[in-house]
Amino acid sequence: MKALVINQYGGPEQLRMQEIAIPDRGKGELLVRIHAAGVNPVDFKIRNGSMKFITGSRFPRILGGDIAGVVEQADPRSSYRPGDKVFGMLSLKGGGYAEFVIMKESQVCLIPEGLGMTDAASIPLAALTALQALRKGGNIKPGDRVLVNGASGGVGIFAVQIAKAEGAYVTAICSARNTEFVRSLGADQVIDYNAEDFTKVRSRYMKVFDAVAKSSFYKCSKILEKGGRYITTVPNKGLFFFQSLNFTRSKKAGFIMAKPSGSDLGFIADLIDQGLLRTHVQKVFPLENGSGAHELIETERVRGKLVLSVI
Ligand SMILES: NC(=O)c1ccc[n+]([C@@H]2O[C@H](COP(=O)([O-])OP(=O)(O)OC[C@H]3O[C@@H](n4cnc5c(N)ncnc54)[C@H](OP(=O)(O)O)[C@@H]3O)[C@@H](O)[C@H]2O)c1
Repeated sequence: MKALVINQYGGPEQLRMQEIAIPDRGKGELLVRIHAAGVNPVDFKIRNGSMKFITGSRFPRILGGDIAGVVEQADPRSSYRPGDKVFGMLSLKGGGYAEFVIMKESQVCLIPEGLGMTDAASIPLAALTALQALRKGGNIKPGDRVLVNGASGGVGIFAVQIAKAEGAYVTAICSARNTEFVRSLGADQVIDYNAEDFTKVRSRYMKVFDAVAKSSFYKCSKILEKGGRYITTVPNKGLFFFQSLNFTRSKKAGFIMAKPSGSDLGFIADLIDQGLLRTHVQKVFPLENGSGAHELIETERVRGKLVLSVI
């Protein structure tokens, strides 16, 4: 099969098309023919070696944590059949930037009726991150005030919509050029981070989700309600320090490490079916030009998501 691989850590130029054997399918696994692969910031962090303490030094390595495609092979007793259209999130091992991938059944979900492969591939990792972060420390109750920092990014667009679907009053933080876009996702209030420091507003929040990890628990604790929780996507020493004090404080600090989950993805698929959640794909690149997608995502300026088309 064709795959976009790296043979060493480095810049986007390390991404090269290579012929690789189709991986072997084990019991309980699915062989999926990939139609489209989502691009996430973690892909460039793996590519440039920032995460090599986790990802090791085995090459060639196929990046990619999000796929949408068609089941090619499944166990006879599987709940999936060849021909089923599925989407899912992979572990940090990756494998999405290729023509085929092996997925555990527990990692995938049927693609909602009417959702195209490109849109489907843009959803799993970012939407699961948003859902699992917002559920951390307890589900949102209707009427809770929730603040999402980085509301125009891959994770943020889903966090705004999931929090709204749960009945929260949502304050979204983004730059002026994304204000109308973020409002169209359902945010009740939008703050331009260049015009106002959201950590100094008078409102208080049950959850502050820093989807782009640009603030800190220290600053955000001032806008948390008693019993409120700050959740970030990228932990640092300060966060670990405050997290270690959680048992002594009513305002909690935490971070999310998203996990593949077919059942959580099923919840997201239901929101899509109900018209409560949609994606936004800024740009689609052919698989061969994955380096172009990496250059763009590294700017941290993408609105919504980027996708690689494989078929
Ligand atoms: N721990 C986990 O499991 C996990 C899972 C997913 C993602 N992550 C991490 O979470 C982070 C965000 O991921 P993502 O996919 O949402 O990234 P992304 O899509 O690349 O985020 C880009 C967006 O961030 C906005 N942005 C940039 N600087 C900002 C700032 N200072 N304040 C508010 N918004 C800002 C940009 O809007 P403007 O151009 O308008 O500023 C842009 O729309 C990444 O570091 C990623 O690695 C972690």
